[in-house]
Amino acid sequence: SHAIIFDTDPGVDDAQAIAIALRHPDIELLGLTTTYGNVDVETATHNALLLSELAGREIPVAQGAAGPMVKPRHAPPKHIHGGNGLGNIPLPDVKGKADPRSAAQFIVDTVNARPGEVTLVAVGPVGNLAAALQLAPDLVDKVKQVVVMGGSIREGGNVTPVAEANMFNDPDAAARVLTAGWPLALVGLDVTHRCVLTPAHMARIEAGQGELGKVLAGSYAFYRDFYQEFLGIDGCCPHDSCALAWLLRPDLFTTAPGHLMVATEGAAEGQTIFAPQGRGFIEPRWSQTPIVEACLEVDGEAVVEWITDTLA
Ligand code: BDR
Ligand code: CA
Repeated sequence: SHAIIFDTDPGVDDAQAIAIALRHPDIELLGLTTTYGNVDVETATHNALLLSELAGREIPVAQGAAGPMVKPRHAPPKHIHGGNGLGNIPLPDVKGKADPRSAAQFIVDTVNARPGEVTLVAVGPVGNLAAALQLAPDLVDKVKQVVVMGGSIREGGNVTPVAEANMFNDPDAAARVLTAGWPLALVGLDVTHRCVLTPAHMARIEAGQGELGKVLAGSYAFYRDFYQEFLGIDGCCPHDSCALAWLLRPDLFTTAPGHLMVATEGAAEGQTIFAPQGRGFIEPRWSQTPIVEACLEVDGEAVVEWITDTLA
């Protein structure tokens, strides 16, 4: 079983991934930490509390970054996830309250309580992980593993020609987190764009998830319009659920070890640049950059089946 902290900006595809984290028998969900990204951080926290309440679970939710570490903040893209992050569907009030600690402090405390056992799964801009590293640099030796949904190796970007949204929204945090030297896997657009969750899959998920299913399906309908309009496909890419699929079903993915950097300035801002391990470079920074594992290929249909079976 995997003990995880799920760092998230819910977000339609985040909501589905949170549902998996709440429901999968092999996941022990220690907490949700929230960040701005798809929505402002207060909305992200509200949605995280709401989704766990709808699942009948009391999971600690700790609020984190309200914006990027260094750069000015980009406005959340309301046409993708809706102004409320969940496709503008009407949402019930939440009863619970957020943990009094910051997301970064929650991460540090939780990892310190179980050294070597906790996996961080981050599916939004990664400012909370960067802040946790600032508080406790020895986290790099104490986490079991870090899985980041973000970036792109060969696929190109979804916000700019080269930058994926989670990287673009806080490139300075991403640069620190991806080169920190902890055991890290990058689940980027190369694999998430190969996974298309269709309305038929969503119908099965809705039927299996009660009140939570209504929110997942209602918000999905809004997200689907965006995919239809911008990518011309009938279905949605379940980006954030792919991070959990990688953790639980690595056999469905092809990965490669290599050096990874994130561009923080200029036209390439937010681009992830990957060099497979073993290639020599004249510029010494490249050979010194720690090795991570990057997803290159996936059995997309099998991942979508796994997501659907987990929630149906
Ligand atoms: C990522 O950006 C967000 O909009 C999604 O929730 C996902 O985490 C995909 O680029
Ligand atoms: Ca997300």
